[in-house]
Amino acid sequence: MMTRLIKYSRKISLWVLVRMKRSALLRCFCTPGRDKILTCPPTYGMYAVSAQVNDLEVVKVPLDTKKAFKLRPDAINASLSSDPSIKIVYVCSPGNPTANLVSKPDLQQVLEHPTWNGVVVLDEAYIDFAPDGSSLAEWVTEWPNLVVMQTLSKAFGLAGIRLGAAYTSPPIARLLNSLKAPYNISSPTSTLACAALQPKNLAVMKSNREKILMQRDRLVEELPKIPGVGRFLGGADSNFLLVEILDRPRDEGGRPSNETALVVYVRLAETKGVVVRFRGKEVGCLGCLRITVGTEEEVNALLNTMQLVLADIFDNRDWARGSQMEDAKEHEANEVIA
Ligand SMILES: Cc1ncc(COP(=O)(O)O)c(C=O)c1O
Repeated sequence: MMTRLIKYSRKISLWVLVRMKRSALLRCFCTPGRDKILTCPPTYGMYAVSAQVNDLEVVKVPLDTKKAFKLRPDAINASLSSDPSIKIVYVCSPGNPTANLVSKPDLQQVLEHPTWNGVVVLDEAYIDFAPDGSSLAEWVTEWPNLVVMQTLSKAFGLAGIRLGAAYTSPPIARLLNSLKAPYNISSPTSTLACAALQPKNLAVMKSNREKILMQRDRLVEELPKIPGVGRFLGGADSNFLLVEILDRPRDEGGRPSNETALVVYVRLAETKGVVVRFRGKEVGCLGCLRITVGTEEEVNALLNTMQLVLADIFDNRDWARGSQMEDAKEHEANEVIA
């Protein structure tokens, strides 16, 4: 990300954001109580939370669940045509929890809407885990209505310093810059960010990323061998995978099951301290867990524990307990926005 940041900042307008970034965009382009944003679920939960905080309605145009969570530009554009109070479209690439990159022609179609006069925000929080060259940050030189957001929170592991960057056109950069408070980046944050961008530390980030990508490949290979693990939904362009958990092994006719996924989620966390995300209530994600790729040891622990937990569930056919657990834990599991 930051090599791009250094490279692009000479070419394109850059607004460095801290803490308030999501609400800054909302405050810049939307009037509370009147305007709306458009999101494409399943997606990052904070877009809707920020909209709620700013008294903005959320129009949802779900991703295409039959086509690996592809964007639906025709449906998005139809919503934009029929509702001029939509001021921002949020697209996440790679998607969270879908882990897939948006297709360039699909995004272009939305950017080139013939009449709509709003802003497209492309959230590239996980772009460093996608193949090189996947970022569309340079597109802001071509489309003045595009804001591309990146963060040091993911591949750099610096979520604690609360620093990200938005690439955008000069007119939008001017608006955002006039909105920000003076000295909005603290000196500890800027010191740590500058240190992270030194060649020596960039090399550390890249080597960590390589290790994560290797473990991601391993999970893609090994998880489906566990009886009770179903298909991967979405893609593999991020540092997590979205995978179905079945109510029985696949060769016994297993079907995606929230009940089983919740039992797995709870037992992984409570017995082994392995925390995954339950995403079974999201559009098109029945029975799904979002599993973040960890170190080799963490992946070992996940694979072993997942195998044990699922074998135990299937051996005991512990459904009564499972459904009680679903009632008790579902709310809690859904609360986690990440
Ligand atoms: C899609 C997406 N965007 C942004 C963020 C958060 O980024 P930051 O820490 O820079 O606020 C997350 C964190 O989970 C995310 O999933």
